[in-house]
Amino acid sequence: MSSLNLIRADLKGRSGYDGGDVTQACRLHANELPWSPLMLDGLKLNQYPSSVQLQALVNGLAQRFKVNPEQLVLTRGSDEGLDLLMRLFLQPRQDAILQCPPTFAMYAFFATLQQARVIQCPLSAPGFIPTVEEICAAWSADCKLIMLCRPNNPTGGLISLETIAALCALYREKSMIVVDEAYIEFAETESAATLLEKHDNLIVLRTLSKAHGLAGLRLGAVMANADVIQALKSIMTPFAISSLVIQTAIKALSNEAWFDAVIEHIIRGREQLSQVLKTLPWVDTVYESHANFLLVKTKKMTQLVDWLESQDIAVRAFVDCPFLHHCFRITIGSEAQMQKIVAQISGLQSELNRTYEKLGRRSGKALACPTV
Ligand SMILES: Cc1ncc(COP(=O)(O)O)c(C=O)c1O
Repeated sequence: MSSLNLIRADLKGRSGYDGGDVTQACRLHANELPWSPLMLDGLKLNQYPSSVQLQALVNGLAQRFKVNPEQLVLTRGSDEGLDLLMRLFLQPRQDAILQCPPTFAMYAFFATLQQARVIQCPLSAPGFIPTVEEICAAWSADCKLIMLCRPNNPTGGLISLETIAALCALYREKSMIVVDEAYIEFAETESAATLLEKHDNLIVLRTLSKAHGLAGLRLGAVMANADVIQALKSIMTPFAISSLVIQTAIKALSNEAWFDAVIEHIIRGREQLSQVLKTLPWVDTVYESHANFLLVKTKKMTQLVDWLESQDIAVRAFVDCPFLHHCFRITIGSEAQMQKIVAQISGLQSELNRTYEKLGRRSGKALACPTV
């Protein structure tokens, strides 16, 4: 028996849509128009995307992510990869996923869209890293997908490859272990894709939206055993990845040195901002992060986030999240952005002093501003 048996019975053995790419110059087979209203870098937008170009991108990314091309399928961002996995494995009103909150909201979003149950295995501070024992205690037999975010969004914690390997071995033929590595480039560690040869129930997701700086392109990759990839392809929309995306991604990825430099920059910026935030008396905790963001806990979260907003700075406040009281998440940006945020955070105290002074004048009483 193999973990392929976890695929929904009604979706097993399907053959996907065959785009029927042809080599003939006179293309009269696909009901396309012979003219394109726009010529971009010689791209014929009147024609459906070429499978040869798509394969070139798959090969390039497979090499970059150190897997075989048959172990990888491209998706419209990781979001589409997640959606497809939920649809391939979860029988509506019957199956479940397990997730470790606080984590990326789209796991529960797509699972509930598929009418699947969401089993919660909450993470505990300060590390926010699930253990094998905690997952075993939460797991039940209807769980087809164990969702692990590595590093986790929004906490930044990094689950180890040993834990992932142990879970793969423990849940072989019972659950697929899905490792979402959207932020892995910032973690200076090996990808879980290094475990793919050993575990047929492991699935790894990567995206070009974060460290590759191509969020606007909408391009992600699902990596798994070749049979799982084939099954995913069999339920995908035809020509999901557009010619524009394929061509732009091939071009963008050719500049290797650029990626190394930006990752280094972000990691340095993360350490610097973390150090600055830790010196502020009203910051309770800056959690250790392996991603391009920091999770910060402060009792003054609302005042701080409102103040930053008024200064044209957006951060992610967690207002209604039961696991993240008083927390906000800040993305590591450029040097100029980091200087701006440090200056504005430091300026919050004087702004509050001024507000209290004004209120005091209006009421005729001296109001003391609490120290933030
Ligand atoms: C953990 C995680 N996974 C996946 C995604 C989705 O990425 P994409 O832009 O590739 O759809 C995000 C986006 O923020 C994310 O944080």
